[in-house]
Amino acid sequence: MQTNLTYHVETYGCQMNVRDSEIMAGLMDRQGYTGPVPAEMADIIIFNTCSVRHSAENKVYSKLGEYLKLKRQKPGLIVAFGGCMAQLPEVVAKVKRLGVNVVFGTYNLHELPHLIEEYHQYKHRVVRVWPGHREVIENLPSHRKEGLSAFVNIMYGCNNFCSYCIVPYTRGRERSRHPRDIIREVEQLAADGFKEVTLLGQNVNSYGQGLGDSYDFADLLLMADKIEGIERIRFTTSHPKDMSDKLIDVMAAGDKLCEHIHVPLQAGSDRILNRMNRGYNREHYRQLVQRMRERIPGVAISSDLIVGFPGESEEDFRQTLDMVRQVRFDAAFTFLYSIRSGTRAATMDDQVELEVKKQRLLQLNQLQYDIALAINRSLEGSIAEVLVEGPSKTNPDRLTGRTRNNRIVIFSGEDTLVGQRTEIKITKGKTFSLFGEIWADQ
Ligand code: SAH
Ligand code: SF4
Ligand code: F3S
Repeated sequence: MQTNLTYHVETYGCQMNVRDSEIMAGLMDRQGYTGPVPAEMADIIIFNTCSVRHSAENKVYSKLGEYLKLKRQKPGLIVAFGGCMAQLPEVVAKVKRLGVNVVFGTYNLHELPHLIEEYHQYKHRVVRVWPGHREVIENLPSHRKEGLSAFVNIMYGCNNFCSYCIVPYTRGRERSRHPRDIIREVEQLAADGFKEVTLLGQNVNSYGQGLGDSYDFADLLLMADKIEGIERIRFTTSHPKDMSDKLIDVMAAGDKLCEHIHVPLQAGSDRILNRMNRGYNREHYRQLVQRMRERIPGVAISSDLIVGFPGESEEDFRQTLDMVRQVRFDAAFTFLYSIRSGTRAATMDDQVELEVKKQRLLQLNQLQYDIALAINRSLEGSIAEVLVEGPSKTNPDRLTGRTRNNRIVIFSGEDTLVGQRTEIKITKGKTFSLFGEIWADQ
């Protein structure tokens, strides 16, 4: 066992990667390493990478270049490379050439400290990338950041094969954790003082398949809702084709289940949705939104949107704008379509020019920002329950927290409020946040 060596984890990508990094840190701690520490102080730098878009990979390569340069001044430095990019053979070939010491795939995460030991022992590069998953591995240690809010995986992988998306290739087929293990983890988080959990999966609405019981996501939420000490429950991501009425009703009924749903539309044209292999059309999505708004008062709905998918015409794009206007998302993450080799859309021959994509993104963002601003302004004068997280990053002399429907609120107050739920009167709505003051009449 190695001791006195320090490690740093460099995390890219989605919440699932954030969670995996906590597990990597937990595994390293258990093996006697010290960390996480800032990269400049580390003996071992672990990359947990994302390949969802070209830009994500670029960020990784540029940071990797920096640390490999550092390695020339600090020859003992070990660089380990894992996460989604490590599942792609062309990436593995490239990072080997660049001089990475350890490469580990998404299914080999639990082996990380052993692979590092192996490198120490034999001083030759170690590459361990299983091409597919084995069983779900439970009881891995984890090093969570202290705080109010924790991520909990409920499932891994994805079966949907949206034609643009690399995730099914990097994370494998969908498999669900047993509810017993999930509930036990959430109970432990409550005992450790966490107040909010976010349940994670690429498509949480299809949770439970393959478990053998007739158990679904709504049932899991009902169980989680009863756990004492946890005050708020969130989840991501929902898929419009799999959102059941039962789930909507459970969300409406649960005390702790927050009134926010991230349910990506991706595109507004039926033709493009079909080419994306999304499994629903605009009408289905519109009705889903209507049902959610009818049954869950005050629900916030957010989305991901892609512009410039192959074959997207001006008319198709106009339909995306039209859906955004009709639905009025509370928030949306917008992306330029990025070719991912190995996916079906990468071989479609009517790719959209970059300049056109950029122009469309600008237009979409402007519309979405206007809508978000109008919604947030309409909240001025209302009272919202905020779970206070700590000092605001943008206004360090003030506090920040989130409403149940995931809006950021900035306000003045005593530090003793951190960790509490408090009522805030909204005084100003901005595009990405709200400003408010503690409501004195409570
Ligand atoms: N499972 C989740 C998240 C997947 S990745 C879901 O289905 O929503 C997060 C987002 O990245 C996706 O929702 C999609 O909008 C975007 N994305 C995925 N692949 C992309 C690509 N090749 N180009 C641009 N955006 C992409
Ligand atoms: Fe990718 Fe689609 Fe699966 Fe989401 S549902 S991870 S976008 S394939
Ligand atoms: Fe990226 Fe992998 Fe998540 S590709 S978005 S880190 S599942």
